[in-house]
Order: sequence, then structure tokens, then C-alpha cells
Amino acid sequence: MTDSPVLDHIGVAVQSIDSGAAVYEIVGIEVEGTEEVPEQGVRVAFLPVGETRIELLEPIGEDSPVAHHLERRGAGLHHICFRVSDIRSAMARLSAEGYDLLSDEPQQGADGCLVCFVHPKSAGGVLIELSQPAVVTS
Ligand code: CO
Repeated sequence: MTDSPVLDHIGVAVQSIDSGAAVYEIVGIEVEGTEEVPEQGVRVAFLPVGETRIELLEPIGEDSPVAHHLERRGAGLHHICFRVSDIRSAMARLSAEGYDLLSDEPQQGADGCLVCFVHPKSAGGVLIELSQPAVVTS
């Protein structure tokens, strides 16, 4: 594998993007944009910080994974995301090594990315997201 790992973003579960973003904005970390990702049951906001970003996750409705996370644990750190160039190959390597993926196929993420999650029980208690950026044409 030739990719060097990049920390794409740190996911933080919030009840509301507006109130969740306030503490970051005070220290100069601004919301760059928001997007609904119905496939994941969330509205997300990205806040660039240096080479990486904070991703605030606000649930849409009461039945999304993030809504359940908020119920069980309240707001807080949710996942870390690494950017990969070939998500299917990364998923195949993880499965072959016995890691538990939350989906068999990549899912639609924010920004047109393909994403998948590694179950925290098989990854040291950390929910790890892998994200393959959308191919940029033009
Ligand atoms: Co994420």
C-alpha cells in the first residue's frame, strides 16, 4: 500500500450544529458548510482545522445511528476518519484480518465520498471511518 494515511476528519455527535459549533467558532474554527446525508441519517457541518476538519453530526429523526449514540452517551467524540484512495481494497484487507465492518459495501457519505466504518469492538474501542473521496472531474 502506497497511500500515506491522512486524518480526513474527527466526527463529533451534537444535538444541534448551531449550538455545537459555538465553542469552535470562539477559537476561530468556522463552519465551512453543512450538508444533509440522508443515507447516514445526519446533517453534517465541516469545520476546517489545519490539514484536517471537525465534522459535527446532528441527527435527522430519531432512528439514525447518531441519534442512538446521543441517547446512550450524549454528545461527544463519535469517530475518526482516514482518507483512502481505494476503499474496497482497504475493506477487503480489514475483513481478511478479521475486523468487523459495519457494511459489506461502501456507503454514500458527505461530499460524494464513499465511506465505511470499522466496528469499535474490533478496533480498540474507536469507531473508525474510511473515506474515499469522490473522483473530481473537470
Ligand atoms: Co465522518
